[in-house]
Amino acid sequence: MEDGLRIENMTEDDLDEVLAIERQSFNDPWPPEVFKAELRHCWSHCRVLRKDGAAVILGYLVYWSVADEVHLLNVAVDPKQRNHHYGRALLDYLRDFAVTQSARFITLEVRRSNQAAITLYEHAGFRPVGVRPRYYANNGEDAIVMLNDLGSTSNVGPLPGRDDDES
Ligand SMILES: CC(C)(COP(=O)(O)OP(=O)(O)OC[C@H]1O[C@@H](n2cnc3c(N)ncnc32)[C@H](O)[C@@H]1OP(=O)(O)O)[C@@H](O)C(=O)NCCC(=O)NCCS
Repeated sequence: MEDGLRIENMTEDDLDEVLAIERQSFNDPWPPEVFKAELRHCWSHCRVLRKDGAAVILGYLVYWSVADEVHLLNVAVDPKQRNHHYGRALLDYLRDFAVTQSARFITLEVRRSNQAAITLYEHAGFRPVGVRPRYYANNGEDAIVMLNDLGSTSNVGPLPGRDDDES
């Protein structure tokens, strides 16, 4: 984590601030119920980014960790705080988490038109691996699927042999 920043668990007390950023960041923002559900799921991780010694939330991150995959569901930085590498700090945190979990890859979907996010992800080691046509219901936009291959094989055990496998 970059000096002077801290990333902590999101709580319900953070939701007013998080929702304010969410509504300024997306034209199809998550409603409060979705954040509340994510805060309850044991496989979901919700984090907020603050400056050391300050209460104000700069950005946040929501991701799932299931088996050997980490999936990023949501990331946003307060529009007033953008271009200070806070997005990068959140993605560095995500990568460190995934490596600690011995995850093999991190995946995400991003709108085809969201060039700021696509560039951020590419700089963080993600590459496009597919397209989900008309994935976003509000305007029928395609999603680009991106993957960060962490190269870990630590969760891959021996593959099952076949009965007729002579080799
Ligand atoms: C995407 C987002 C999180 C980036 O946050 P940020 O803190 O401004 O990004 P950073 O300052 O960490 O930028 C890191 C890199 O991303 C790229 N980037 C960020 N904003 C960019 C923009 N507007 N245009 C092009 N590239 C951009 C740059 O390569 C930048 O590195 P550089 O400054 O060294 O060139 C922020 O724009 C945001 O909250 N957008 C709305 C929500 C959203 O779209 N989330 C993604 C959903 S998939």
